[in-house]
Amino acid sequence: MKVTLSVIKADVGGLVGHHVVPVELEEVAWGVLEEHKDELLFDFDVTHVGDDLVLIMTHDRGEDNEEVHRVAWDVFKEAAELAKEMGLYGAGQDLLKEAFSGNVRGMGPGVAEMSFEERPSEPVIVFAADKTEAGAWNLPLFRIFADPFNTAGLIIDPHLHNGFRFEVWDLIEHKKVFMNTPEEMYDLLALIGSPGRFAVKRVFPKPGHVIDENEPVAVASTERLYEEAGRYVGKDDPVMVVRAQHGLPAVGEVMEPFAFPHLVAGWMRGSHWGPLMPVSVKDAKPTRFDGPPRVIALGYQIKNGMLIGPEDMFDDPSFDRAREIANAVADYMRRHGPFEPHRVSFHDLEYTTMPKVLEKLRDRFEPL
Ligand code: F6R
Ligand code: MG
Ligand code: MG
Repeated sequence: MKVTLSVIKADVGGLVGHHVVPVELEEVAWGVLEEHKDELLFDFDVTHVGDDLVLIMTHDRGEDNEEVHRVAWDVFKEAAELAKEMGLYGAGQDLLKEAFSGNVRGMGPGVAEMSFEERPSEPVIVFAADKTEAGAWNLPLFRIFADPFNTAGLIIDPHLHNGFRFEVWDLIEHKKVFMNTPEEMYDLLALIGSPGRFAVKRVFPKPGHVIDENEPVAVASTERLYEEAGRYVGKDDPVMVVRAQHGLPAVGEVMEPFAFPHLVAGWMRGSHWGPLMPVSVKDAKPTRFDGPPRVIALGYQIKNGMLIGPEDMFDDPSFDRAREIANAVADYMRRHGPFEPHRVSFHDLEYTTMPKVLEKLRDRFEPL
């Protein structure tokens, strides 16, 4: 059977600043989604990472479906109302528009959706990150689907041996390009090594794979809040879905890149590079300097459209070392204070705080 997995998230208010989604808001989400179970949704789950409320929904309506998106919008609206009543911080922060107009894209929420023919056993991992941007998935996605030092299957499993196809979005010029690995691996890295500009949107199998070449095996959200809002609202805090096993990277190969807490842009005021710390949902509460950036991973088996799980994948001592390294890197980066490369580049602040500072000093600048 054909199933669509829609992961839609938004920050609609935090308990104690931009810290965490309180349980009351998750309860609102449960209530609203429950009303649509069976008739619209096959199944759903609700989680959070930091101050981002994450809705995980299965259905057969396909991507960008108006009804499914409307339900997500209703959840966020209702949760934002409660957030306002409770005086939560940044209530309704990511809801950039007043009225729903057919699709949540461009309205603030982040979206990662994919439709596929459900396999007899369908393991998927839903990732969600707080205090960072879409390009944060570039490094792990490359490692999962293209790096044989990460994914042993690329060498050993004949189904993976042909490699994969990456759909890369240029987030500034709004265009996309498809690139094949391993053939175009160096060109691909040339682009996605600049995660603020280029982000992997989807990964596909190549022709001849057991999975249809037009069915994504991974998808990420690539919304850019400041572009949608025309001002700085908060970081994009992206989500991602990866299918695993049986001709795809194994679950352990999907998890492996996160054993290295790579540097991502975000953290305090969306303006600092810091390590992406893999954590269990209970630790998905960025505290120090509003961070460091966090990532959670929930594992499910999808059966007849139902979500069996979740398994809290980073709730595992084998990621303790990654967390220790992340803490050490956080110390090291913090000691740079307002200096690059802890603070993001001048260019990256050009759209946010820098214009105001430059404007203030405009008349005082003298020619050299
Ligand atoms: C980063 C983030 C926080 C805020 C910071 C200032 O994505 O959400 O680091 O940028 O707490 O928030 P305001 O300006 O709301 O006081
Ligand atoms: Mg917030
Ligand atoms: Mg957030």
